Amino acid sequence: MKHKKKFIKIAIDSPAAAGAGTLAKSISKHYNLLYLDTGKIYRMIAFIKINQKKKFNKKFLKKKIENLNLKKLQNTRLLSDDVGTEASLIAKNKYIRKLVHSFQVNCAYRPPKKFKGSCLDGRDITYKIVPDADFKFFVTANLKIRAKRRFAELKRLKKKITYSEVLKNIIKRDKSDYNRRLSPLKRTKDSILINTSNLSKRACFLKIKKIIDKNI
Ligand code: C5P
Repeated sequence: MKHKKKFIKIAIDSPAAAGAGTLAKSISKHYNLLYLDTGKIYRMIAFIKINQKKKFNKKFLKKKIENLNLKKLQNTRLLSDDVGTEASLIAKNKYIRKLVHSFQVNCAYRPPKKFKGSCLDGRDITYKIVPDADFKFFVTANLKIRAKRRFAELKRLKKKITYSEVLKNIIKRDKSDYNRRLSPLKRTKDSILINTSNLSKRACFLKIKKIIDKNI
């Protein structure tokens, strides 16, 4: 007899603008999981660095991370490309990664009681933050499609940016995320590859749902 697992942990890693966030959100909603977009933490720190340059030191940052509030984080929109680029630079910092580690682990392993588990997406989730996840996915799409999607997203938000700038930024970010020494983006052997290039949002959701349903 199949027993339904009570608590599930989903870990997703992906390069920028591959559609992982949209997918993680719909999966989390469907299975009632706490969703954490871990990139937002790095974006928030990058935003602070850009806008509060003078105050940006270890002590100030430590306090900010200690007071990090999940609801507030979920409600912030830090989608600009400048913030994303700065985020991938500060994400190489050992001290910063250490500071945000326990916040992510707490969300993954101890979400509020109303949830039946957690779903985190980022760059090092499958092998560092939730290495024992029940489901691991590596979500990707080809470079031009990712740039097109991010460009459309930024246009919807009325950001002044050209397609070629977006493409350039994604290439820069991929280079930095895949090649850094600390917590690089990689597909682990036990992660299922989901290529969203030619799939609609609904098709991606159904593909992952099928995999999860078969195994819970
Ligand atoms: O996911 P998003 O594009 O918002 O992430 C912004 C940047 O934060 C990434 O390019 C990456 O360098 C960094 N990041 C990370 N580890 C994570 C999530 C994001 O290094 N778990």
